[in-house]
Amino acid sequence: MASAKLSLATCTLGLLVFALACSARLQLSEDYYSTSCPNGTSIIREFVKKQVANDSGIAAGLLRLHFHDCFVMGCDASVLLDPTSSLLVVEKDAPPNANSLRAFEQVDEIKAALEEECPGIFSCADLLAVAARDAVEETGGPTWPVPLGRRDGYISSSEEAQKKLPPSDGNFVDLTRNFANVGLDPVDMVILSGAHTLGRGRCVKVWDRLYNYTGVPDLTDPSLDSAFAADLKVKCPKDQSGATHIMMDTTDGVFDNVYYQDVAGSKGLFTSDATLITNPVGLNLVTTATANQTAFFEKFGEAMVRMGQIDLKLGTQGEVRTQCRVTNPSRHPFRTFSS
Ligand code: HEM
Ligand SMILES: *[C@@H]1O[C@H](CO)[C@@H](O)[C@H](O)[C@H]1NC(C)=O
Ligand SMILES: *[C@@H]1O[C@H](CO)[C@@H](O)[C@H](O)[C@H]1NC(C)=O
Ligand SMILES: *[C@@H]1O[C@H](CO)[C@@H](O)[C@H](O)[C@H]1NC(C)=O
Ligand SMILES: *[C@@H]1O[C@H](CO)[C@@H](O)[C@H](O)[C@H]1NC(C)=O
Repeated sequence: MASAKLSLATCTLGLLVFALACSARLQLSEDYYSTSCPNGTSIIREFVKKQVANDSGIAAGLLRLHFHDCFVMGCDASVLLDPTSSLLVVEKDAPPNANSLRAFEQVDEIKAALEEECPGIFSCADLLAVAARDAVEETGGPTWPVPLGRRDGYISSSEEAQKKLPPSDGNFVDLTRNFANVGLDPVDMVILSGAHTLGRGRCVKVWDRLYNYTGVPDLTDPSLDSAFAADLKVKCPKDQSGATHIMMDTTDGVFDNVYYQDVAGSKGLFTSDATLITNPVGLNLVTTATANQTAFFEKFGEAMVRMGQIDLKLGTQGEVRTQCRVTNPSRHPFRTFSS
């Protein structure tokens, strides 16, 4: 692995003298680690397999980590950074993330194994992209080739997380704008929402739909299937803990198209799910995904590849963290804060 470090150092040195020396590295490629860490992706796969077999919720956690990473300052593992004395409030502690994101310990476990195999080579941002793909496949979903070469960022911002993450009470227009903000289109939005085939949400996030729709006391969102709404009210009583978890779709822990069947049947959990059928483009995609799981799977892989390329840090930007929760102690002289 020393040779890989050497080639990176040579490349960096080359940049000083001859800017083109690194141009080949300035985009992602599937074989990015083929000489520097050939077994890296197999190691990730092995761990994800084990972790998901033990707890299928980890698949949901890993998939969502990649999404929340990419939407906030680009796919640079900013979501993994812990607070420090100079950065007290970070992305992972922002309201949409706190007490909600999970699988951080599993990421640590994978990263430790990668560092043992090839120290300082495999970025945390790439780890998240590969682990998200593997998590989907381990729960019965599609697979896709993941382009690699993302670099890890130096900063994390709670404010950015609040600004960039989509709101669960958003309508089709709100969500379309939110995704356009990071270069994704309405098709990506509808198809990536299919990730809600995995995992769970908290009662606090549906209370307003059940008991306070549009701010009217005791009004339930009339677009909710009435039996589904009644069931949700049993699971999420008004005056109990909002931290109680409910499943995102009716097939827990399985990546399939049942989420779309639920949405088409007015059983989408959040307003952001229900709203997908309120627009002709959305309705068309939901109808296709409901009827043809293979079609959904294909589109999902393509959309994940697009999501995985938001605002990348490449080449000499950023760094490769040795621990995903903290930036490296000695920073690269060419460090950049651009995102
Ligand atoms: C369309 C806009 C989206 C909105 C408004 C949204 C909102 C949410 C909310 C509110 C939760 C529950 C969080 C909680 O109550 O603690 C959730 C869970 C989840 N979301 Fe999304 N989401 C969106 C898109 C996505 C995308 C694009 C992905 C991935 C590609 C994704 C993956 C997940 C997963 C896997 C979970 C379950 C997490 C777990 O069980 O730990 N979501 N989402
Ligand atoms: C690569 O990693 C996998 C998973 O940890 C392991 O089973 C395999 O033996 C490793 N192969 C090599 C060549 O190190
Ligand atoms: C398995 O999952 C449980 C929770 O579902 C967790 O407490 C435990 O630490 C996990 N074990 C391993 C080896 O990851
Ligand atoms: C009901 O909704 C309104 C507006 O959305 C909000 O300001 C208010 O706090 C909510 N009331 C309760 C009891 O949650
Ligand atoms: C389902 O979608 C796949 C992939 O797009 C396509 O090849 C297949 O013909 C579709 N099946 C039906 C029954 O439409």
